[in-house]
Amino acid sequence: MPYVTDIEVRTAQASEYDAVQAVFGAAMMFEVTPDELGRQLFEPERALVATDGGEVIGSTRALTRDLSVPGGVVAAAHVTGVGVKSTHRRRGVMSRLIGQQLREVPEAIAVLWASEPAIYGRFGYAAAAWGTSYEVDLHRVGPPTGPIRPGELGELSADEALKELPRILSLMQQLRPGVSDRSELRWQKHLEDKPDDRGGRTALRIVVHRDETDTVDGYALWRGKMVWGPTGPAYEVNVEELVAPSPTAYRVLWQHLLTMDLSAKLGYGYAAVDEPLLQLVKTPTALDRRVSESLWLRITDVRRALQEREYAVPVDVVLEVTDDLIEANTGRFRLTATGSSVSCERTDDAADLTLSVAELAAAYLGGRPLAEFATTGRVTEDTPGSLNHATAAFRWPLAPVSLEVF
Ligand SMILES: CC(C)(COP(=O)(O)OP(=O)(O)OC[C@H]1O[C@@H](n2cnc3c(N)ncnc32)[C@H](O)[C@@H]1OP(=O)(O)O)[C@@H](O)C(=O)NCCC(=O)NCCS
Repeated sequence: MPYVTDIEVRTAQASEYDAVQAVFGAAMMFEVTPDELGRQLFEPERALVATDGGEVIGSTRALTRDLSVPGGVVAAAHVTGVGVKSTHRRRGVMSRLIGQQLREVPEAIAVLWASEPAIYGRFGYAAAAWGTSYEVDLHRVGPPTGPIRPGELGELSADEALKELPRILSLMQQLRPGVSDRSELRWQKHLEDKPDDRGGRTALRIVVHRDETDTVDGYALWRGKMVWGPTGPAYEVNVEELVAPSPTAYRVLWQHLLTMDLSAKLGYGYAAVDEPLLQLVKTPTALDRRVSESLWLRITDVRRALQEREYAVPVDVVLEVTDDLIEANTGRFRLTATGSSVSCERTDDAADLTLSVAELAAAYLGGRPLAEFATTGRVTEDTPGSLNHATAAFRWPLAPVSLEVF
């Protein structure tokens, strides 16, 4: 690909928020509107811009956030805002931005949601979590049934929610890998609910579940849409987030949402592939599930990243890793782990498995078996038995889930 040499790639300045937003808005074809919280969340020192004659024509940003991984919560560069002006595309601008970003981020892993699955594999990213979306036929689904105590369900204002919801999200991070944390400012943004962003739906409704001690132990964020069909009401319920680590809260919240008066359809975009709702409804096919890539992950420091997670069973394996972009990741690493005691060090010992950083990234959150990649030759088993051994260690009991596009 012919590289354009007069394009400069550099760190953004705080004053460039509008220029960066304008490029991203134009690239993603959304109208940029005033966004004070977005401005406050901008981390210029973690954004890169590509400029042509001084004009910003491309950008990428990394957000400082934590992510749940098997056995813990770690710092993960949350990559977003990747865009190149249409007049400057296919000349290597994104490649320079992403390459530099991956070499510079201090975190051992980077994650993103891809607009198109064909974009990021070339940079060593791999889909590490599948997302599932539902288009539920409420007349057919057969919702969960069970008692609901008076006072068990209630609604909160955004201000009240800011005090209760972060704690529930933290509990969810202990349950599943792939869940991003939210700072107080990010929570404010998440619950901001600007009328222009509602897409013809109601204001955001924040429904919570309370346990026997009156403590909030689960919540759902949802909106409704009034739709009248030829035979009467056919309203739509759109669930934006449901976080309920307690089984009772989970059942009661779904029971509430799936039995909403006047409604015919329910949409939900952030289910896990092993979402427990599958067990609770009478007709799982009425969920009309679609599975696609959700969180993409890139390992920027193999040794550190492998040490930052836990493993499902004790493991001792030598991995021969290749990385076309980050030289320090190439080589042999011995991974040994028992419970929370994990070590990953360079070694000269013979390899048990040979693979690239992309396969490691796919398996990192525990949702995709390493053995999956042996079937296409992307993982090679050098020592018989090591593939099953490593596959079992990298897997995790519950599938990873990413709860928001960032
Ligand atoms: C995606 C985007 C950032 C790529 O920028 P770019 O500067 O044109 O990318 P590059 O020139 O560095 O392309 C590098 C390679 O990726 C490929 N590529 C780029 N965008 C692609 C896409 N959307 N689908 C498939 N391949 C893509 C290019 O063909 C090129 O391949 P090659 O090396 O085999 O020739 C740009 O097209 C864009 O802004 N798109 C709209 C916004 C968007 O989707 N952003 C991503 C948000 S997650």
